[in-house]
Amino acid sequence: MASEAKVSVRRYHLYINGEWVGSSSGRFIPVMDPSTEEIIAEVPDANEKDVNRAVAAAKAAFDSGAWHETTAQERGRILFRLAERVRKEAGMLAELEARNSGKPIVEAEYDINDVATCFEYYGGLATKVLGHVNPVPDNALSLSLREPIGVAAQIIPWNYPLLMAAWKLAPAIAAGCTCILKPAEQTPLTALEFANWLPEAGLPPGVVNIITGYGESAGAPLVLHPDVNKIAFTGSATVGKIIVKAAADTVKRVTLELGGKSPNIFFADADFESAIDGALFGVFINQGEVCSAGSRILVEKPIYTKFVEAMAAKAKTIRLGPPLERETKMGPLVSKDQYDRVRSYQEVGKKEAKLAAGGGRAASMPKGYYVEPTIFYDVDNSARIAQEEIFGPVAAVIPFANEAEAIRIANDTPYGLAAAVWSRDIFKTFRVVKAIRAGIVWVNHMQPTYVEAPWGGYKQSGFGRELGPSGIEEYLETKQVHINLNEQPIGWY
Ligand code: NAI
Ligand code: MG
Repeated sequence: MASEAKVSVRRYHLYINGEWVGSSSGRFIPVMDPSTEEIIAEVPDANEKDVNRAVAAAKAAFDSGAWHETTAQERGRILFRLAERVRKEAGMLAELEARNSGKPIVEAEYDINDVATCFEYYGGLATKVLGHVNPVPDNALSLSLREPIGVAAQIIPWNYPLLMAAWKLAPAIAAGCTCILKPAEQTPLTALEFANWLPEAGLPPGVVNIITGYGESAGAPLVLHPDVNKIAFTGSATVGKIIVKAAADTVKRVTLELGGKSPNIFFADADFESAIDGALFGVFINQGEVCSAGSRILVEKPIYTKFVEAMAAKAKTIRLGPPLERETKMGPLVSKDQYDRVRSYQEVGKKEAKLAAGGGRAASMPKGYYVEPTIFYDVDNSARIAQEEIFGPVAAVIPFANEAEAIRIANDTPYGLAAAVWSRDIFKTFRVVKAIRAGIVWVNHMQPTYVEAPWGGYKQSGFGRELGPSGIEEYLETKQVHINLNEQPIGWY
């Protein structure tokens, strides 16, 4: 094969039925380091045939064999072993994640720690899935049993690669499902490294399969496959809508996390220094490639001018640099496509609003997909940069006059993933918390995310909840069992 010549480029395989196998097409997808624009690896370009193999393996593992006999206790232990291995290899995983996604190494280290915590949490939860006794009015015993949903297809994005894999795999394994995970084509490497540890952790072949490939050729056939019972998707709203339609023909269970345009709301009585920090952190962490990014910054008029100035001054000090340098606070965007998309929104913003900071490519970085942290102000909420998800370090600052106007603007979006409210007035704050139509509302902070608490959106940000006890619910069916205790005929006829 021609690409065999590129010796420094690591070549990966698909993980199907406990084995590393090539794709049926024999083609590969190049995987980049977005800070150097160099190819660092190749992964198989899987297609429908490969998907069929993976689904067959997942279905066979679900229907019979070792997984069928694996107890909840043992599934819990498997998850704890995986967590332990992730902690042991955290340095390698964080470095690979940072290199491949562009995120700063320090952030990647937090992510990998969260990956391990996620496996631990669902390891513990595996033995806490409870059924019910239903109080039916008869001489009978009525039970609700909880059973795994079956074969789950899990399609994930590139912004938190291994963490998104963990959010999906851990509850599915805890519930007793089998999985086909499709990482994003841009960032498949950490999930593939992770797969190496599945057998030694005690997972029988076929329980977790990993298919690398593009959305249209590897993701779409997974969504259509009749033997897939559930789709869990995180990604763009555009693809989320395609998935719901495609899943309808086989009535698959679907959960979607589709990002948003989350409002970060600052009242004049908020602590000013914390507010500026919170506004910047809310929108610039992970280069702004965050589904819950606080990309609409709503500021009460008395502090508005001072707020924009302080934000802009501090944004200009954010250290852009190579992902592997510990001082780096912002790395490159994940890909050329994402760079082009964010650059185009920077230009749209210049026509729609006023520019306080950034606005272009980061001139200090000779190579790589770096853009400047960018702040637009005097943004009208109907502007494209206030309505459309940009998924990059681009903030839209919007002034508001009072509480009612803040609520109106905050909710004037098709999305509803997250929001934050900053104030010292608990009456006002809690009124706003209640009025916001979003799945996550932070008060005097933005972005802290815990495996113990549910994650997901209202409106077009999707449906279903990951993390916490709700995370495992999404992988369970309910079976009602009625046990007649009368030993006589029904006597109807
Ligand atoms: P995308 O939604 O196309 O990709 C996410 C995942 O879906 C990837 O694994 C991809 O291969 C897969 N996919 C794509 N088309 C598919 C199809 N027809 N059937 C099944 N799977 C499919 O996201 P993309 O194009 O990488 O980014 C575009 C925009 O999406 C971003 O600018 C951002 O606004 C948004 N996004 C939101 C994310 C979130 O966390 N909610 C994550 C990534 C992107
Ligand atoms: Mg796409």
